Amino acid sequence: MRDINQFTITEAVKKSFRSEEGSRFKFLLETLIDHLHDYTRETNLTHEEWMRVLMFLYDCGQISTPDRHEFILLSDVLGWSALVDMINTRGGATEGSNLGPFYLENAPKKALGADLAGPREGVSVLAYGIVRDTLGHPLPGAVVDTWQADGTGTYPIQESGQDKYDLRGIFETDKDGRYYYTTVLPKPYTVPYDGPVGDLLRAGDRHAWRPAHLHYMIRAKGMRAIVTELFFENTEYVDNDAVFGVRRSLLTRVEPYKADKAGNPPLERKPDAMLRFDFVLAPEG
Ligand code: BEZ
Ligand code: FE
Repeated sequence: MRDINQFTITEAVKKSFRSEEGSRFKFLLETLIDHLHDYTRETNLTHEEWMRVLMFLYDCGQISTPDRHEFILLSDVLGWSALVDMINTRGGATEGSNLGPFYLENAPKKALGADLAGPREGVSVLAYGIVRDTLGHPLPGAVVDTWQADGTGTYPIQESGQDKYDLRGIFETDKDGRYYYTTVLPKPYTVPYDGPVGDLLRAGDRHAWRPAHLHYMIRAKGMRAIVTELFFENTEYVDNDAVFGVRRSLLTRVEPYKADKAGNPPLERKPDAMLRFDFVLAPEG
């Protein structure tokens, strides 16, 4: 150990952990140490720069609460969350995208055709489609769990005096794998930028906006669940989402509502517009 230097320290640190040989933990830890040390050597990191990074992480911790996850936000704006989504998307399945901080378990169960928007202002839209497996077979009884911002770009959970379960619903697909419901078209909104991650965005001359989107978690028996988002073609920020959530395959076209074209679904409310998206789930395992 006493002959340790900037080239031998990496192996010494790795050896100091006596983790189980061949374990995933050992692999993840050793790879992290390799990359962290390589980064430091490659950049010739100064004491000031190193301390700046540590203080930034300290600030992220200071502002974090059970409802404010600054480290997840950091991961989001660095494209790390998106990268994890990308490499964990199964071949043939719908691409995964950001879960975000506003998912709630136990959203209210709704009947197909229900309206999530109520008297809110905005464009009323039918969201519909089929949930299928990767061979194209419809999946009856699949669970479509959705949540979204309103027509001003606000999630009800962000506003005091609003029901946090508004603009959410859990639907079950029918015997043909179909889902359909009406809601209000959401608007873009900003990720929180009043903390250290906001400072980082400003330092890089970046904005905090996300394009308008609908969130989904789709589950079906024997299939691998997906978490994803749908975006709308030709809307603001689809080409520069602050958290890199947009994929070409997740862009939908919003068109005027035509009952025939949508398959005449029985709806609680007649919408102005409609958008179709078919979700694809890969088998579990
Ligand atoms: C969202 O989509 O709700 C979201 C994602 C990342 C950060 C903040 C919000
Ligand atoms: Fe969102």
